Formats: sequence, C-alpha cells, structure tokens
Amino acid sequence: MKKLLLLLLTSYSLFAQNNIIPTPVSYEMVTSGGMSMFMLDARTSIDVTDNNPEVKRIAENFINSLGFMSSQKPVFKKVEKPTMQDKVMIFTLNKTPNAQLGNEGYTLDVTGEAIKMTANKPAGLFYAVQTLRQMMPPQVENKEFSMGMFPIMGCKITDYPRFGWRGLMLDVSRHFFTKEEVKNYIDLMARYKLNTFHWHLADDNGWRIEIKSLPKLTEIGAWRVERFGGFGNRESPKEGEEAKYGGFYTQEDVKEIVAYAAERNVTIVPEIDVPGHSMAVLAAYPELSTKKDLKRYVDPGTKFADWFPNGTFKMNIENTLNPSDEKVYEFLDKVFTEIAPLFPNKYIHMGGDECYHGYWEEDAGCQAFMKKNNLKDVHELQSYFVKRVEKIINKKGKVLIGWDEILEGGLAPNATVMSWRGMKGGIEAARQKHDVVMTPTTFAYLDYVQGDPTVEKPIYASLSLKKTYSFEPVPDSTDAKYILGGQGNLWTEQVQNYRHALYMTYPRAWAIAETVWSPKEKKDWDGFVNRVENHFMRFDAANLKVSKAIFDAIVTTKKDGEKLMCEMTSDMKGVDVFYTIDDSFPDKFSPKYINPIEIPKGDVTLKVATYRNGQPLGRILSIPRTDLEKRAKK
Ligand code: ACM
Repeated sequence: MKKLLLLLLTSYSLFAQNNIIPTPVSYEMVTSGGMSMFMLDARTSIDVTDNNPEVKRIAENFINSLGFMSSQKPVFKKVEKPTMQDKVMIFTLNKTPNAQLGNEGYTLDVTGEAIKMTANKPAGLFYAVQTLRQMMPPQVENKEFSMGMFPIMGCKITDYPRFGWRGLMLDVSRHFFTKEEVKNYIDLMARYKLNTFHWHLADDNGWRIEIKSLPKLTEIGAWRVERFGGFGNRESPKEGEEAKYGGFYTQEDVKEIVAYAAERNVTIVPEIDVPGHSMAVLAAYPELSTKKDLKRYVDPGTKFADWFPNGTFKMNIENTLNPSDEKVYEFLDKVFTEIAPLFPNKYIHMGGDECYHGYWEEDAGCQAFMKKNNLKDVHELQSYFVKRVEKIINKKGKVLIGWDEILEGGLAPNATVMSWRGMKGGIEAARQKHDVVMTPTTFAYLDYVQGDPTVEKPIYASLSLKKTYSFEPVPDSTDAKYILGGQGNLWTEQVQNYRHALYMTYPRAWAIAETVWSPKEKKDWDGFVNRVENHFMRFDAANLKVSKAIFDAIVTTKKDGEKLMCEMTSDMKGVDVFYTIDDSFPDKFSPKYINPIEIPKGDVTLKVATYRNGQPLGRILSIPRTDLEKRAKK
C-alpha cells in the first residue's frame, strides 16, 4: 500500500500542474499552507444536493468510468462535516442562476476534504467533472489501472465557454464508421467540452441513414464496391461486381446515438448534402437527375471530376439533383419528415457545397424552368432550390444551415451559414445579419496533412497543429453576435478506419476546443503544447491513436540562385534537430541544425531527426533531393 501511495504521489508531483484542455477561464492552485490534494477513493461520498436525476447520472457515469473495484466505489451520501477520513464530492445546481456561468459554466473547488461543484444547469456539472478527470494522472485513462485512488490537486476554478457552437464534423459517407465508433467519437469530443456533433450522413459515396419511405436509399445507396488507395483514382465497379462496402444507421441506431450524445451535453446536427454530392441518392433514384441514366452506382472514389488550377471543376458523372423537377422536392420532403423528429437540435444541414452546374446548363428542362421563374443564371437556380429546401425544413420546425455556397444567387431568408472557403462567406453572411459558424479550411480542416508529407498520406493541403491553434473565429470587421462558434471538419475520403480518424482529429481538435471555449486572451501556444503532451499520455494510456507530428522536424527549402537551401525547424521549444546527407541514419552525434544548409547536387537524401534532452523525439524524415527541389518551387 505504501508503495502504491508513493507511486501515486510521484505521478501527482509530476502532473501537479494545470493540464486542462481547453484552458479554464480562471484557475487558482490551492495550497492551504502546504500541498493540498483530494484523494478520490473508497472513503469518498457523493452528495447530489437536490437529488437531480440528471446530475446523479453525471456523477455515476464519472465514477463508473474510473477503474474503481465495485466494492470501493464512492456511494451517494450526505456528509455534514467532511474530514480527510470522510470526504465528499458535492454537486450543486444553483437555485439562483449565476449569470456569469450561463448554461454550460461551472465552479470547482478542491480541498483535501471536499470537491465542491456548482452550475446553473447539469451541463455545467458535466463539464466540472471533465475538468476533474483531466486533473488526475494520465494513467487513470488506462482501464486496467485500478488502484481505487485518484489524486486531484487543490484548486479553485471558474469556467464557462466563449461560444455556444463548439463543433466537430465527421464524414461517415466516404468511409463508414460503426455505431460504436460514432459513440466513441462523441464521448471523446465531450471530454474536451465540444458540444455539437455535425454528422455528414449523405454524400456521393454513401447514404447512411434509414429513411423508411425511401428504402432504396439504404438498400442501394449505402453500398459500394470496396476499393483502396487514393480517393479520386480508384477503379470503377466491374460488370456484375457486388457492392459490399458500406453500411447505414437505422432510425433506432440514430435514437440511441442521440441519447448517448445528450448524456454528454452533445447535440447532433444531421447533414444531407444536396443538390450536389448526390451520387448515392442517384444510384437509388436515378429519376431525380437530369439525365435519368439507369446504369448508376455508388461511386467508390473514381476520377469522377476534373479539377482546374483556378479551383473550379467539371463533374464527369452527374451528381446533382434536378432543381426543375417537383419530384425532387417531394423526395426531400419525405427525407426531412423522417429526419426532423429524430434530432432534437434546431438545425438541419442541407449541404449546398460544390454543386456542379454543367448538367443543369445542358438540360432543356432546367433552362425552361429558369425562364419561367425569371432566374437569370444557374446560381439563381441553385438559390431557388435552397429557398425551396428552406421552406421544407422550416415546415418541419427546423432552421436551415448550409455551406457558404448558399450565399450565391441570394441567401434564403432564415438560413445560417457555415463558412468553409476561408472566413469571407461568414463575414458576408454576418453583414447580411445571418448567423454563422466558422469552419475555414485554413484552420479547421482535419483531413489536411498535419506532418511532413513524406510520413503522411498526401492530400491537397497541409494544416499544422500550430496553425489550427491560431484560429480566431471572429474577424475584426464582424459583429461577434452573429458568430455562433467554430468547428473542425473531418472529411474521410482518405480515412479508411476509425483509429486513423482519431489520428487525424487529435490533437488538432484540442486546438479547436481551446479556441471555441477559452477566452481569447488566455490562448498561449507554448502552454498549450505542454498540456498537449500530457494529453498524449492520456490517449496512450487509453490505447487511442493520436498524431504526434508536432514532434517531427519541419523541413522547408528555398532557392538562392542555383543553390538549394534548407531550413529544419520545430514548432516546439527545446527541440534539437540533427541531420545527415551522407545516407547514414541521423542520431544526436550527427550534424546539428543551426543555420540554413545547402543541399549538395547529386543523388542526395536528407535525413532528419529530432531530440529533446538527449532523447529521440519525433519520426525520422527521409527526403530525396528531388522532393526538396519541388518544395522550393511552392
Ligand atoms: C466542403 O468542404 N466541401 C464543405
């Protein structure tokens, strides 16, 4: 027992710092003349002051998530005079609301004898508990770590969010993630006080939600042929090949996930992406397109489009619904009639992004429709479509939200805009007095490569943790009251399994969480990175995958006349970079990087290693000169 205590105290002193992500509004260490620490153990009781059932469940879920043996679990009991032998965790809902805390804020007081938590709403107490958990040593995240003793350092915290919309989007269309994986994704985001799960349920590569009145959506639209390798270069289905890859969520699954999320203060915004991104719909119901081609299939990621340097593209396969056909609106009415009651959230996302207009331009029916309705171009035709969809969604008691393309041709009257092509769509929507969620590619796209392209699967762009952390959702020119918050988006064209989805999401989602929860003035990159390292240990202890690309060197090159010059840096303090250009493996006795070096001509490969305090840190990068040359041209 003594040994156990020593181990705990050692880990306590190692982790006796505020490791909380997102960082709280105010945090004070309580020392009361010496070290103050609460040991959560079998001698702890739980007091839910007004017996609120929601709060009791929060307390129970918390205790059950720690490695307590059942005989040692704290029990519900009032303790009049707490002592070190008879300790208590007190959960209190304020009778008179504390205006500063709002709906999700909390206070947390930890001394040797008691943990006191207060909030206006159960959501605040849920977040108090998430903070408590992060104040324990990282080993608690290992389910096998069952010592029945959980130390928490004395402190006084007041905390509440900066924004109401703190989101993550998961694309379950390009690759399917099971019900249990979706729940786990929600569980993890909730631990970082993210509260909005944007569920991208329909896209070209799979329809993922049961619609009882339209059974072919899931019988046909949820399945494609299995393909591996780069998305956009995959082989089309062969004649007679069975579509076996995919899956969908039944309405019972959805109810279960919505309830699971609600227990974690997470609300779900479902997205049905129309009128573009609809190949899966059209595989099931080809009559909803202009061409009505019956030989359609759910695309497995073929070369379905040509992309041009100016950012425009041409679809080689029709993936748009036909906005001139009344049947399309009847179809969408059926879809939203079934979706609306499944989700308590007030929003339904209708996509609206990247809609290719070429098939509408070629179609005589669309042209006649535009003439009849005085629509001068295809942008106005798309705006007509969005406004019709808004009426359907509003009729179901919901608010329409869409990607920023819904601004083109005129915004629907009550729409909320999700700004993804930078911040400009959001700025314009706020100028027009519409609500906005900021989720710009430049800071919030979690599908972008986060480390050196030689050790990651390349995709069209890069986004480092540091850049994500510099995200500021309210532009100077914009009235903050229209900015509901921000969100990170995980598109999964190149994400083929759940562990990789976690790798792409974390740690960047921690940067997003801090951006949307913590006060702007409390953001501090170096402090954040220290805390990130603590959370790496937490993910490691829980066997969860996380990207440690932040430990790798950053290699950039420049041309100086004929010379190819190379810089090797790190986004972290205290990191030494060592390199070789002689085909040997770099270690801490190799040349240390100090100033830019010239890469000599020839069949040369640069190898780079990072060390800290003499210990290896990141992955070793190995970059041929030809690749370094290409970097210089960018
Ligand atoms: C998007 O990334 N197409 C919204």
